[in-house]
Amino acid sequence: MASKPRLKWLLLVLMVPLAAGAPSLAAGDGSCPQENIDISGGSFILTNSYSPGSILKYRCDLGYYPSIPTRRCQYGTWIPKPITKKPAECKRVTCPNPRVLENGEVFPHQPKYYVNDTTEYSCHTDYTFSGSRVRICKENGKWNGSTPICGHNSDYCADPGVPPGSSRTGNDFKIDHKVTYRCDSKLTLIGSKERVCLDGGMWSGTEPQCYAGFTYDTVEEASEGFSSSLKSSLTFQQETDNDQTGKKIALVKGGKLDIYIGLDASNSITKEDFDKAKEVIKTLIKKISYYEISPNYEILMFASDVERIVSITDFKNSGDARLQLQKALKDLDDFQYKKKGDRTGTNIGKLYTFILESMNIENQNNRTAFLETQHIIIVFTDGQFNMGGKPKPKVDLIRNLVIDNKPERENKLELYVFGVGEDVKKDDMNGLISERLEERHFFALKDLGEMQETFDSMIDDSTIVGLCGIHQTYDAKNPRRKYPWLVEISLGTLTCMGSLVTSSYILTAAHCFKENPSIQQIRIKLDKMNPVEVKRYIIPKEYDTKKKEGMGINEFYDFDIALIELTLPVKMSFNLRPICIPCTKETNGALKLTDSEGTCKKHEEMLLSKDLVDASFTSKMIDKDRTPRKIRNIIIKQGKHRDACVKDALKAEGISTTDAYQVVTKNFLCSGGTEPNQDDISCKGESGGATFVGIVSWGTKNLCTKDKIDAKSTTDSRDYHISLFSPEIQAFLKAYLGNDKTGSSLTFLPQ
Ligand SMILES: *[C@@H]1O[C@H](CO)[C@@H](O)[C@H](O)[C@H]1NC(C)=O
Ligand SMILES: *[C@@H]1O[C@H](CO)[C@@H](O)[C@H](O)[C@H]1NC(C)=O
Ligand SMILES: *[C@@H]1O[C@H](CO)[C@@H](O)[C@H](O)[C@H]1NC(C)=O
Repeated sequence: MASKPRLKWLLLVLMVPLAAGAPSLAAGDGSCPQENIDISGGSFILTNSYSPGSILKYRCDLGYYPSIPTRRCQYGTWIPKPITKKPAECKRVTCPNPRVLENGEVFPHQPKYYVNDTTEYSCHTDYTFSGSRVRICKENGKWNGSTPICGHNSDYCADPGVPPGSSRTGNDFKIDHKVTYRCDSKLTLIGSKERVCLDGGMWSGTEPQCYAGFTYDTVEEASEGFSSSLKSSLTFQQETDNDQTGKKIALVKGGKLDIYIGLDASNSITKEDFDKAKEVIKTLIKKISYYEISPNYEILMFASDVERIVSITDFKNSGDARLQLQKALKDLDDFQYKKKGDRTGTNIGKLYTFILESMNIENQNNRTAFLETQHIIIVFTDGQFNMGGKPKPKVDLIRNLVIDNKPERENKLELYVFGVGEDVKKDDMNGLISERLEERHFFALKDLGEMQETFDSMIDDSTIVGLCGIHQTYDAKNPRRKYPWLVEISLGTLTCMGSLVTSSYILTAAHCFKENPSIQQIRIKLDKMNPVEVKRYIIPKEYDTKKKEGMGINEFYDFDIALIELTLPVKMSFNLRPICIPCTKETNGALKLTDSEGTCKKHEEMLLSKDLVDASFTSKMIDKDRTPRKIRNIIIKQGKHRDACVKDALKAEGISTTDAYQVVTKNFLCSGGTEPNQDDISCKGESGGATFVGIVSWGTKNLCTKDKIDAKSTTDSRDYHISLFSPEIQAFLKAYLGNDKTGSSLTFLPQ
């Protein structure tokens, strides 16, 4: 995008007499000359040939950057104007000066540090080293590893260090004291200019980094930074070593999330880039849909003007979030490049004004709902803002509206900017983004391809892979994604269902193993990609079907639960993810609880406290796409309904005791009967399936036949499920899943 058009006009008037007689001007159609625009050591592309308005973008090899990023064709002249004596060149990327280390030594001493230059760091005696001892200058103009620091660690906060290329004022690290940073000339400070030593021993904000015009974030850096920051809004996982300074929770269960996405569609974007940018946004929206929360969206395109493609009010009014999401994606698809109107400017101020308008409408519609909502604004731009004045005052209005001068509401607003390409003026971004502890909100990406990769790798990021309960709810092409934990197990002549609970354990029922299959006889079907090998199976020692034979219970199914351990952990993917086990820290994420709120009791309260609890389990798989043939819906009977449900156990074959609670212990949940409605009942082969809170164990009547696999319960047909909340069952699970040597262990919460 261009610099200020007015200024350019002025320059042009002055230049015309000088340029008169140049061959391309003589053409009189405003097209630009083809001479003198080559770059030594690189190449260029044109957005619209040599025609007026076309943008020339220079390209250099990795580790090099163009001395001039772009030129724009205006009134027959390239701006900036090519200078014959000083043609564009590809220059070597440098990293910011590392010799700013205090109380230590940097080796080697060089005036400049280029890509692949290695540096080593050490501290003077009496100082403690932290950070990376060896750093290499990367092709993106950043040092690898982390800032080396030589500190005394005698103050309340640890020495915050001096990042390469910067200087720090303030050497007092006591509580409430602040330090300020600036970057060497020509470098832009990204992160926090000022940091305060907080109660709790952490510094506010994020470590500043000094970016040159050519510095960019790698896909890994951006993906990690963005997903860890966004994740705190989407999954409510609050992982931090220090509770006092931990991230604040923005959402409560059932909390609402409004996401505003602004896409720069100004002149410098070619049709191809525009289509790519739409794909990028679609990828981002799809990624977000993998999380448990379903946000509302507003999508806007901005250039000289702003166009709303999807409005947040329409999005909300539709009611059905799933359908609305599909419609939004389609509207985005249908939005044409040529529809963009006047594209000569980049009026980001107007974009924020539009967003403010939408927020005002939301606020007026329902103030209570507005205050409960978290608002995320994500802006994609490829250049500098040249119209409509400074955007910061508009952003401040948004801040005022949402945060309302209440510090505890700070986290209700998240502002992100993604800058793509080398023309992004990084300094403009400060003030448009949020500053949070350990979180990044501005990202500079090399191109749209890398942006796409950033979002693609976002959810497969190792920090997210372990999250249980993530599943797609609407992907028609990949129905497996709705049940990514679903497992079918064949054991000799029997078939059972199971659920992946960690990367190396499958949860099922103990009675599935009644024929004592050998390890080789146990066949596991997960998604199609993953053939797996069984290492062993584990049945609780308390499981003993003959235990109460003498008491008139021919078969006793207490502790009917089993774990199958795999030889190697499976690789998680969209089609393969674990289900949540209640009373684990991992489940806090799915229930949108913070680690301090998330107790076992709280899980039970949320999942299993009502008298009638809706639940479901799945029937056998369709082999072709590894999805369940049927979803079985049941109502778990508790409280005043439980007694009748349990008593029907006495009507089962082989039971002659009169004490139903001897048969159905407190480790069981109960479903079936006809009050309040008929339930689906389990058929042969469906044992072991998970209901999220229980494992399908046994039933009083077999109402299924070969032809009738979707039987409904009758008055006294009941199914019993092992409750995963039972302390005894929890102890069994914890012994194995809490101590997983091959895969990832779960963290069990105290009872
Ligand atoms: C840096 O080193 C890598 C690996 O040796 C090499 O492929 C790359 O070309 C080098 N980059 C520059 C700019 O010298
Ligand atoms: C940084 O790169 C150097 C040289 O390749 C390597 O020895 C060092 O381990 C890297 N540091 C980190 C933290 O990756
Ligand atoms: C406003 O929102 C609150 C909370 O989401 C909701 O309980 C209430 O019914 C809404 N009021 C109206 C008038 O829609």
